[in-house]
Amino acid sequence: MHIYLETERLTLRRFTTDDADLLIELDSDPAVMRYLTGGVATAPETVRERYLPNILAGYEKWGGGLGLFAAEEKDGGAFIGWFILRPEDRLDEVELGYRLRRAAWGKGYATEGSEALLAKAFRELGVRMVWAETMTVNQGSRNVMKKLGMTHTETIPTPPDMERVEGSEHGGVRCEITKEQWEQR
Ligand SMILES: CC(C)(COP(=O)(O)OP(=O)(O)OC[C@H]1O[C@@H](n2cnc3c(N)ncnc32)[C@H](O)[C@@H]1OP(=O)(O)O)[C@@H](O)C(=O)NCCC(=O)NCCS
Repeated sequence: MHIYLETERLTLRRFTTDDADLLIELDSDPAVMRYLTGGVATAPETVRERYLPNILAGYEKWGGGLGLFAAEEKDGGAFIGWFILRPEDRLDEVELGYRLRRAAWGKGYATEGSEALLAKAFRELGVRMVWAETMTVNQGSRNVMKKLGMTHTETIPTPPDMERVEGSEHGGVRCEITKEQWEQR
């Protein structure tokens, strides 16, 4: 197992070729997918043929420092979902994201995993700014960003492929935190 980081209660590790079923199960819960696809599950073949190969390719591309990582409870080892730190154009500006199984909600895990990712990004990876985006109506995700000390910087339009998602008429929000802001917290 290739461990990426550990928090008090979680281990974040690299995904492997054997993990397709974990991702398929995660994306098959309508509650998890509510503000992503309107509740529609990701097709298993999409996970096997596109998502997982892309995740694994990301470890090569970014040398294991950035990418999408599986989160497990230290106590018992249950898979609880994933976290992502992903650059778009520049390596020093990265996106933070999270998708957790319903059974893991409400325990502070999204905040705990994200705090550790911010620390890693700013202390070890030379990142200057971390950003995250979510739908305006995704209160859970917005609350995580707020708890992390991220600032709402922009209201963004709903991407065309998400126009049928509940609440899409309210658009989305972009939040950011710079290394300087993080250090001053
Ligand atoms: C959004 C999500 C990551 C939150 O995970 P979580 O581990 O339950 O979040 P935390 O426990 O760290 O909660 C952080 C804060 O947000 C609040 N919160 C969490 N979910 C909430 C919700 N649905 N509505 C309102 N507040 C919520 C918590 O109460 C907590 O605030 P508090 O400490 O003041 O009580 C999780 O619900 C999830 O994976 N959802 C499905 C996928 C998704 O929407 N991902 C984000 C896409 S941008």
